[in-house]
Amino acid sequence: MIEETTTMNTKHHQPAGARVGIPPRQMDFRMDATKRYFYDDNATATLFFAMLSSWFPPGERFFMDSVRNFRDIVKDARLKDQVSGFMGQEAIHGREHDKLNELLEQSGIDLSFPVAAVKLGLGVLDHLPKSTQIAATTFMEHFTALLAEELLENPQFAEKADPEMIKLWQWHAFEELEHKAVAYDVYELVGNSRIERTAAAAAVVVTLVPAVFMSWAWLVAREGKATDIKDIGKGLNLLFGRQGFVTGVLPKLPLFLAKRFHPAQHDTTALEAKWAKAMFGDDGLLNKYFKNRSSLMEAAVH
Ligand SMILES: [Fe+2]
Ligand SMILES: [Fe+2]
Repeated sequence: MIEETTTMNTKHHQPAGARVGIPPRQMDFRMDATKRYFYDDNATATLFFAMLSSWFPPGERFFMDSVRNFRDIVKDARLKDQVSGFMGQEAIHGREHDKLNELLEQSGIDLSFPVAAVKLGLGVLDHLPKSTQIAATTFMEHFTALLAEELLENPQFAEKADPEMIKLWQWHAFEELEHKAVAYDVYELVGNSRIERTAAAAAVVVTLVPAVFMSWAWLVAREGKATDIKDIGKGLNLLFGRQGFVTGVLPKLPLFLAKRFHPAQHDTTALEAKWAKAMFGDDGLLNKYFKNRSSLMEAAVH
């Protein structure tokens, strides 16, 4: 999948996605070890994020496949480049989360059940018509973009997450905002039926929401915390309480069902600009992990 990132403009060796603001940043996070409970020293909340991390590689493969099914109908040069950028970014996200997941496994967090559960859910979605699969992807990308915005905007995440661990999540969140409209713009070419979008969202909810709670409960039980009411109460509050991380996202989910929904309606450009500078500017916090920064910058000035 990483070969997607090498769709080059032969003249200046610029990856296609970089021409349209969706550059495939080759990040290489080198975390040797991670604090076992990397979110506020709380097992329940940490295991929720561990589950999310284990879901990203198979989930993002589903997203890429569903867009790839319609790549041939994209004739517009700009959208073609955006699709390349989307493919490149998602492939690299999967790779870096695979590395993190390995680390989590090494620290004793067994991710086998959540991975099996998400694969089962995605396997069901795989049986839907291809147009419904990409509609499902647009819904999941909408959810991912909302989570990403929350992660970058809500100070809770920066305060509570392990400072090393947080970098990978912030980079991923930022790029989710950069490419949030790509799958949707391809789906517009497929026909964009509101009825199909609604059905696809329902299919995602029915297949994946139970898998979320089963996976999460399994992880908590496996960690020996099933009867640790204090830890579970705190974790639930961190995520689903009044100021909770997920709570902020849920009211915005139904925006997707609006007749004239488009991901760009929810403007995040100022937030993206702020984080682009903080992470990848001259003294960017993440530049040391950003392996192709100079080549992307060089290509950009030509
Ligand atoms: Fe991603
Ligand atoms: Fe994405």
